[in-house]
Amino acid sequence: MQIQGAEDALVSWNGDALAIGLTEESLELSAELAHFDSKISGDLSTLLKEEEFDGKAKSVLVTRISGQSPIRKLIVVGLGKAEELQLTHFRNAAAKVARLVKKEKVKSLGIYFPSLLALSEKEKNYQAIAESVLLALHQDNRFKSDPEEKDISLETVELIGLEGNSPVIEQATIVAEGVIFARELVAAPANVITPQAMADIAQNIANQHGLSLQILEQADCKALGMGAYLGVGQASDLPPKFIHLTYQPQGNPRRKLAIIGKSVTFDSGGLNLKGSGSGIETMKMDMAGGAATLAAAQTIARLKPDNEVHFICAATENMISGSALHPGDIINASNGKTIEINNTDAEGRLTLADALVFAEKLEVDAIIDLATLTGACIVALGDSIAGLWTADETLSTEIKTAADAAGEKFWQMPMENKYFDGLKSPIADMKNTGPRAGGSITAALFLNEFVEKTPWAHLDIAGPVWNDKEDGMNNAGATGFPVRTLVNWVLS
Ligand code: BES
Ligand code: MN
Ligand code: ZN
Repeated sequence: MQIQGAEDALVSWNGDALAIGLTEESLELSAELAHFDSKISGDLSTLLKEEEFDGKAKSVLVTRISGQSPIRKLIVVGLGKAEELQLTHFRNAAAKVARLVKKEKVKSLGIYFPSLLALSEKEKNYQAIAESVLLALHQDNRFKSDPEEKDISLETVELIGLEGNSPVIEQATIVAEGVIFARELVAAPANVITPQAMADIAQNIANQHGLSLQILEQADCKALGMGAYLGVGQASDLPPKFIHLTYQPQGNPRRKLAIIGKSVTFDSGGLNLKGSGSGIETMKMDMAGGAATLAAAQTIARLKPDNEVHFICAATENMISGSALHPGDIINASNGKTIEINNTDAEGRLTLADALVFAEKLEVDAIIDLATLTGACIVALGDSIAGLWTADETLSTEIKTAADAAGEKFWQMPMENKYFDGLKSPIADMKNTGPRAGGSITAALFLNEFVEKTPWAHLDIAGPVWNDKEDGMNNAGATGFPVRTLVNWVLS
């Protein structure tokens, strides 16, 4: 499927289906739309009138065009109130159109959002629309022998009003491919995406895009004293793989950054086994932080910003066997701190502890970790908003700006140091879990023990990495969150 700009005036555009986005205020047709309407014998105005179209966001109409027009189908999609118009409305409307034509036998689609043409950052809006179309059209047939949804018939999508050779299409394609890459990693089951598979994928990215790759094997991690990370994986039959990919720009890097993604390829809970109904059957997604990290590595390598970026995935499985961590065990992290394991299901923070210590030794200017860390964060913020913890206001602003532009939602949560009391252990430096109340906050405070001085932010993405049902440009299942925020952050 090819997506491109089309500089044609609306009346001269040709193709199978045309989608027009209208705000609540634009139902009174503009001169251009009125001209187009007369060309198709008034089918547009008739449709709007007969269906009492109100332009509300999420509303959509389709009709066949009668007469001689080369355009066979007309789609009208609502953008909501003009004064409230934001990138999200364009994104959602474009996704709606893409899904609709996916079901119809449409080969060429034109998208025309007249209210966008008046906006100052036109290009940015077109990029968002292109990303949204590509993401809404994505379907994952990898594990079906006979998929119900066969390959889509759509061959070209033209964004009317965008210059044919605009660089934003290429940019949107690279970004959408990154998000899809993350989705497919998250959606693939734990018998496919093992720690070794993640290492192999990192190797592919390194080979294809010229990144350097270091894989620390179990013995290497042991030599570095990574007892917290290794403790999590010690009951698995699969060896852990500590993945460190580095992107180096040409010339001197402006900044040095590190991104760490939780990469627990399956979280059974360990001896504090997740019971049925606890979501154990979806715990293949516990490497979503690592998936977004690898996807960001690929995307950044293709977009070539002037920052050096380290991508770190401490990949392992949280399983049970005779060599599993016992609740009550005391383990040593690589910064010398001791941890009493009072719950083997709080494993993500253990893997991240050693990864944070490793990242800080790289002397980077900032570290972000992203993790499907706590159910408590989902309780606090629901499925579509991720938690953000940082003591660094600059980093907080950077992340919020990057997230806003991506249309990905974060909410800053408190680093309430007093709650660390809940992690105090009578026998070790700390326990790995605190009381039920404020569970996502104590998780962040636990991580804080493994960062000394580098500006650092923790993102708890447990909710938004997975959708139970389709929403905007995301289909049901893995969303690829927050690849676009990470990419925007590194590019900023
Ligand atoms: N991977 C889970 C968190 C999770 C839950 C992610 C639901 C996605 C959806 C994490 O390792 C975990 O098990 N956390 C425990 C922590 C508790 C033992 C303190 C939790 O949230 O219940
Ligand atoms: Mn767990
Ligand atoms: Zn987990």
